[in-house]
Formats: sequence, structure tokens, C-alpha cells
Amino acid sequence: MSDLPQLLTEALTETRERTLTLVAGLDTVEFETVYSTLLSPLVWDLAHIACFEDLWISRAAGVPALAPELFTTYDALETPRSRRGELELLGTEESFAHLAAVRARTEALVSQVATDRSDLVELVICHEQQHNETMLQLLALAHLPNPFTRAQAAEPPAASSRAPAPTGGALELVGFAGGEVTIGAGPERGFVYDNERPVHVRALAPFRLALTPATNADWLAFMDAGGYQRRELWTREGWRWRQAERIERPLHWTEDGRLWRLGELVDIDPEAPVMHISWFEADAFATFHGLRLPSEFEWELAASSGPASGQRSPLPWGTEPVARARANVDQVGGGPVAATSFDGATQTGLRALIGDVWEWTASWFDGYPGFSSYPYREYSEPFFGEHYRVLRGGSWATRPRVASVTFRNWDLPQRRQIFAGVRLAGDA
Ligand code: AVJ
Ligand code: FE
Repeated sequence: MSDLPQLLTEALTETRERTLTLVAGLDTVEFETVYSTLLSPLVWDLAHIACFEDLWISRAAGVPALAPELFTTYDALETPRSRRGELELLGTEESFAHLAAVRARTEALVSQVATDRSDLVELVICHEQQHNETMLQLLALAHLPNPFTRAQAAEPPAASSRAPAPTGGALELVGFAGGEVTIGAGPERGFVYDNERPVHVRALAPFRLALTPATNADWLAFMDAGGYQRRELWTREGWRWRQAERIERPLHWTEDGRLWRLGELVDIDPEAPVMHISWFEADAFATFHGLRLPSEFEWELAASSGPASGQRSPLPWGTEPVARARANVDQVGGGPVAATSFDGATQTGLRALIGDVWEWTASWFDGYPGFSSYPYREYSEPFFGEHYRVLRGGSWATRPRVASVTFRNWDLPQRRQIFAGVRLAGDA
């Protein structure tokens, strides 16, 4: 029988093993190079993970932090990504040593902390797992090799998880009745981020949502039809961005019609979801099809919809995270797979709502009615307003614990280093 401290310890250990797997075999130069102002050098992520754990576990236990003098350098807001290259950072070896020292202290305190602040231990676990995805973005940007061996690659979905073979694709829309819809995560879920709370009701008009995310074939058709040249498809800001940056294809696509899959240059799989597009590109693609992006609430309704009866279960996957067998999540696949491969554990027939690529939505990132920050203001609140767009559903690089129906990701509309694609929506 497992008790809570033991479960938390196991989760901490499993999470750390993954972090170390992602960077295994890299050299000091690869750890410390600033490849882009959009992403931290890998050593920053490592020491930041350690400092975050130091801060929250020491607070939970009421003991002094191990290295509070590092907190400013490794605070995401005080030291934005664009400035992380200029700082005096811990070296590679020191960063690993700090990770280990903080973890040893955490393990010694976990029984004590589990009694009334297990939420903060879960926060620490989820935080490290989210940084794993950022680290994979860096590996992709730097064309560093896939950390997973082929033997570990995701197994094909079990036959039982396959919905009836879909006949349509990314352009086939499925109808939803809308209505009074419950959004967000309640206390029964255990630890969730503040921006997923509180549970509240929204009125949704009937709408339609595409069977799959847009595929690379769909994207090539958009490009062939002059999608990147036709001004009328783009918002004013989108067009300005496209022109200034001379955007002509998704990030990580090459002029000769291939794409980078981590460190490997491969042929474009027409059936896989398109990835590494900005919100601006996603929006232009929707306009091209006479459609629109879904709101994040439409997405959440679809992802939590029950079988054809129209019954809606608040948590279609129970309280368990999505299993790898039902969605392309958890990093080991190394990228998206054919968009129809996984039912993503939903019962509406829609494919790959969870996993493969984050899906850009039309929604600005903002607090739900009655929002209160928890456990700290800086996780969500500084980003609220008409600046960041919400993404839903997790990607192939998202760990299952984080890939839930209610989880909200956000980024600026021009960002493309994240593992994002698009699913079309329309009015009924
Ligand atoms: C939810 C992915 C937007 O990376 O900025 C990590 C997650 N917050 N450490 C981010 C996060 C604090 C966050 N995103
Ligand atoms: Fe962080």
C-alpha cells in the first residue's frame, strides 16, 4: 500500500529521471549556449527548477531556503528569457549539484510536508514537468538529437482506444449543441493551477469543431493557394508580423520541403498535425477556410463531452492523467503522429484533442470569474489581459500529469517555438 509521502516521492523521482534523460549526453557548450532570446539556455532551466523547488519546499516546511541568494537570477519574471544569456549563471556542474542538493533536502522533508501542504509538492512536480517541455523546445530549436531511443518510442494505440475509423479530416466539422457548460477544475481534482479555477458556468451557442487538428497536407494546400501572400487572410498585426519576419512556412520547415524533428531532417508527413505555427498563421488559415479558431470554452466542452447521448461528464478521463495509450503525450514519440491515430480519450469521435500539438484558441488568457491567485501571484496573473492567447490540449512533449482537459497554456500570438498547431471551428 502506498501512502501519500511515498506517492509524492515516487512522482518526484520519476519526474527527475525524465529531466535528466532529456539532457543526457549533452556537453557543456550545449548546456550553456544561448541559442535564442526566446528560450533559456538549458543550464538556466536546470537551476531554475532547483530554485523553485528550494523556495516552495522550504516554505511548505517552514525551514530556511538552501540558496535564497539565487532566487532573483532564477526568477522567471525578474529575469526574463531575453536577459538570461547576460547573467552570471551557475555552470553546468554547479547546476546539477544544486538540483541534487535541493532534492535531497526535499526527500528528507516530504513526510512532514505531505501532511498539510502536499499541494506544494505537486506544484513542484508539475513545474519541473512543464519545464521539461520548454527544454524540448530548446532541443528542437538547436536541432539537438532526440533524447529517446527508438526502442522507447510510443507504442501504437491499443485497438480498444480507437474510435470508429474517421472518414473525414481536419476540414470535417462535428456539431456541438453548446448550452450551459461547466468550465474549470474543482477541488476534487487535487492540485490544479489557479487559472483553471474556479469552476463556473458559461453559455455557449451551438458550434462546430474539426475532427482533427489541421494536418501538414492541409498546410501545404494553404501554402500552395498563396496563404502566406494573400493580405486579406491576415489580421493587421498578423500581416505586419509576417512581413517583418518574412514568414513563408512553419518554423522548422525547410525550403526544400522537409522539416526538423529535433535533430533530424525528415520528410513532411502529410497526415501529421502541422506544428510550430503562430497564432497569426493559425488565424489566417481559419480565415482561408471561411472558418475561425475555437474559443477555449468550446474546446473544453468538446474535450469533456460524453457519448452521443449528449451527456457530459466533467472528467472523461477520471482523475487519472491521460494514458500514453490513448494520446500522443509524454515526449517519447519525438513529435506528432498521424492526426487520426489517437482518440485522445474523448468520446465524441474527435481525434487528438489531447496530445500531438497544442491547439491555439481565439481566447485571450484571463482570470475566470472569481479568480484568486494561488499559490503565488506570478504564475498566471501578470499575463492576464489582451496579450496572450490560450492554447489547449497539450502536445507530444507534454507530460500526462499536465495534459488535462482544463489545463490552460498561453503564449504571445507571434510565438512559434512551442509545439502548437490548430483545429478549425465554426458557427453551427
Ligand atoms: C504555462 C508554459 C506558459 O513556461 O511560462 C513555468 C509555465 N510557469 N514556470 C511558462 C511555467 C512557471 C508557463 N507556461
Ligand atoms: Fe518556471
